[in-house]
Amino acid sequence: MTDQRRLLVTSALPYANGPIHLGHILEHTQTDIFVRFQRMRNHECVYVCADDVHGTAVMLNAEAAGQDPLDYALAITEAHKVDFAAFDISHNWYDTTHSSENRALATSIYERLRASGNIKKSDVAQLFDPQKGLFLADRFVIGECPKCHASDQYGDNCDACGATYAATDLINPISKLSGVTPELKTSEHVFFALSQHAEFLSAWTTSGALHPAIANKLSEWLESGLQDWDISRDAPYFGFEIPEEPGKYFYVWLDAPIGYISASQQYCDQQGMDYEDFWRSDSTAEVHHFIGKDIINFHALFWPALLKAANLRTPTKVHAHGFLTVNGEKMSKSKGTFINANTYLTHLPAGYLRYYFASKLNANIADIDLNLEDFVQKVNVDLVGKVANIASRCAGFINKQFEGQLRATTGTPLLAETQAAAELIAEHYENLAFSKAMRVIMGLADQANQFIAEQQPWKLIKQPETRDQAAAVCADGINLFRLLALYLKPVLPQFATQSEAFLNVPPLTWADHQHLLTDHAIKPFKPLIERIELAQVEAIVTAERQAAESLQVPEVDKNSTDQPSDAFINIDAFAAIDLRVAKILDATAVEGADKLLALTLDVGDHQRTVFSGIKSAYSPEELQGKYTVLVANLAPRKMKFGVSEGMVLAAGPGGEDIFLITPDAGAKPGMKVS
Ligand code: 2FM
Ligand code: ZN
Repeated sequence: MTDQRRLLVTSALPYANGPIHLGHILEHTQTDIFVRFQRMRNHECVYVCADDVHGTAVMLNAEAAGQDPLDYALAITEAHKVDFAAFDISHNWYDTTHSSENRALATSIYERLRASGNIKKSDVAQLFDPQKGLFLADRFVIGECPKCHASDQYGDNCDACGATYAATDLINPISKLSGVTPELKTSEHVFFALSQHAEFLSAWTTSGALHPAIANKLSEWLESGLQDWDISRDAPYFGFEIPEEPGKYFYVWLDAPIGYISASQQYCDQQGMDYEDFWRSDSTAEVHHFIGKDIINFHALFWPALLKAANLRTPTKVHAHGFLTVNGEKMSKSKGTFINANTYLTHLPAGYLRYYFASKLNANIADIDLNLEDFVQKVNVDLVGKVANIASRCAGFINKQFEGQLRATTGTPLLAETQAAAELIAEHYENLAFSKAMRVIMGLADQANQFIAEQQPWKLIKQPETRDQAAAVCADGINLFRLLALYLKPVLPQFATQSEAFLNVPPLTWADHQHLLTDHAIKPFKPLIERIELAQVEAIVTAERQAAESLQVPEVDKNSTDQPSDAFINIDAFAAIDLRVAKILDATAVEGADKLLALTLDVGDHQRTVFSGIKSAYSPEELQGKYTVLVANLAPRKMKFGVSEGMVLAAGPGGEDIFLITPDAGAKPGMKVS
């Protein structure tokens, strides 16, 4: 065994603006397998995480829910903890970035940056929403692409021609938050002098901390020159105010990674350890960050430069993974493939998915596809048919015929081979080549099954002279099973715990592969894992699709990180929905859209355009002059055909059976509906 290492491991901090979904579970499973493996190897491995609670998106979601941002975020954090625990993610600490520790650390790191000449200031002209009273992040502005003139494009890039630009370049911009035309307004911003660290970053990115493919990609960036990094945002903003800069807050991406440090500090404080042992510039501990490929720049450029400038240690490794797709496509709410952790768990146990992810994960950034049929197949074939089968085939004989006693093994070379595989499997775990580790383990399981099939203990047991041989073959089988359960333990901790109970052994560590169980009593066997049916998986997708239909939620790009979300609704959130009586002035079919009508609505003091999927039930003519109910404070939504400024309410299963909700006679346009 190598010397004991000290590792601090993190997963990216999930935003506190929506539930944990399988994309998060992929990342936390990858991290957790690595962590559990290190712990089994007897290394000290601390795994911390937190919710990333700051920023505009959380602030606006909280506002829409009628809640204080911190209360809103904390409720979500609690739900996140429950989901992660249910997936056996073994965080040592899980908190929020809005902690006093994080505030103190963000402040002191900023002070260090300032003292070392790493802070600059300059004016930034940005679009400002005069109605909401806030500066607009790029994705809260839409307008005409300055290059190809496509309408309704976001403030950072154009879906139609792919051009990237500044939000201020958009033609006829409008605020997605209020629908008004934003103004150009200048304010002074605080910058981290990233450009001063180009040389350091060229060296660091190629030092082995990153996958070579990522290092290559970043070198292109570095060659094109680094800009200083804007680390401030103007009030109103949910975050930490910058010292001596009233009304200015740290950009969420400044204090989020510092949350890695503060979470480790909180854990170490609780354990009587010194967190600085992990973070001092001369620390001999390792720091490993697990992240998605969309946030590489933050972790492989800003973060190491910031740590270096603050005289702290830089990460040992930043491990990036690809996105999760389902059945080969981007996860989709309307298709039901945007699966929340909690929905999955009401239908299936965590271990199945942990195993499936392990069987697909490698150290690169290729996307990971959850193919639902393949998932069912793999669980049934590998876990049920191969691994658990070894125990169930042998345990009955040992328990019924040999009083549960494992005596001698046959000494088959397969035992030694299976033991010797520990080294290769460990190497794969260490290198995050989990799919290779799973292949080796399943190859061994195949050999074990083949061995039992050849030896036929069920025949041997029938003759008195071969009874001992039958007992020895079954002892082989149980020992092989024990080794496989040990090798799978980082992936399947619950399966390992149940196996340990059946095997009547203390918690398995990696070193336990070195010995075998002989002269040992096992416990009665209970089935360890059940087959799954495709119908169970389909039920998950159906549940998600129905949830999406009932909410009529727009598609959200999982991989974009700053979207307001539709996660939790309580009475305050409901009360925050502004329902108004609207009169349909005009209705027209939308060219190129099968289901949509464009409605021009009179809402009392103004008119709105709303796209509504009611074409299958109403002709445009019959709608003119009708009254209905409008969700008036829904953020304007960019659609292919234009911007929809709200949503009208309708009931019914669809097709011809859609019925617009209409207020009673006497209702006037603009009246509040309560
Ligand atoms: O992309 C995200 O979901 C961010 N909340 C990740 C933050 S990781 C870290 F730097 F804090
Ligand atoms: Zn364009």
